[in-house]
Amino acid sequence: MKAILNFLISIFILVTSISITHAEDEKQTMVDVRQQAMQAMWSRLDRLSTLIAMPGDAVTTSDGSTIIISNQNKNNPLETYALIHAKEAKQDAEEISNLLVQVEDFWPRHTSVANVKSTNAERLVWIIPEAFARYYKDAVYASKNLNNSFSNKDAEKIKRSVCMLALSCGRCHAAFRKVRFDNLRKEGRGWTGNYNACWEYKNEVTINSTAIRD
Ligand code: HEC
Repeated sequence: MKAILNFLISIFILVTSISITHAEDEKQTMVDVRQQAMQAMWSRLDRLSTLIAMPGDAVTTSDGSTIIISNQNKNNPLETYALIHAKEAKQDAEEISNLLVQVEDFWPRHTSVANVKSTNAERLVWIIPEAFARYYKDAVYASKNLNNSFSNKDAEKIKRSVCMLALSCGRCHAAFRKVRFDNLRKEGRGWTGNYNACWEYKNEVTINSTAIRD
């Protein structure tokens, strides 16, 4: 009888420890997946910033070389984009939309820094979750607007939408993400949404925060 009891107790301990490790893995995976999705969005946004590059700006091409945008550039920006990056701008924009939706619910409380060391999300995400959710929706709307702007090929609209999307990333990070120096070096302006071409939209959003969804 004692042996059976011991056996049952060990099975119980085994099962609970497996499920605890499983929960640990699940939290860690959530953080890994959301960080990877963010990285994937960033590389796409970085490419999309070619569409709003000003003369003199440096752009990295698909083969890793750097070119400087000239002020003589009369090409259609969407064609230039496809030539430089070997990918269509439209596809990058759609992928950002999909990535945003994929990790929208990857922020449960048990993935805060108190539970998962590798996260750089600020505790504020869980202190004011409504604000976090609102900023997240801003980015979702901004990315949808960008997708729409490609279908009517309106250059001014495309520029505005790229800027609004970049600003929506930057605004959320400023409040909800801890940024270390090496992130800044890697991500440059993509992190802040502060592209030279975007200052007028930044002002617009400062005055009226809902403009980011228009
Ligand atoms: C609503 C808030 C929010 C929005 C919108 C948002 N992010 Fe983030 N982002 C975060 C948070 C929080 C983290 C930290 C996540 C973590 O470490 O768990 C992060 C992390 C990152 C990282 C670093 C990932 C890593 O490897 O640690 C990059 C790059 C990034 N975001 C890019 C973007 C880009 C580009 C956009 C816009 C297309 C964007 N983010 C939109 C909140 C946001």
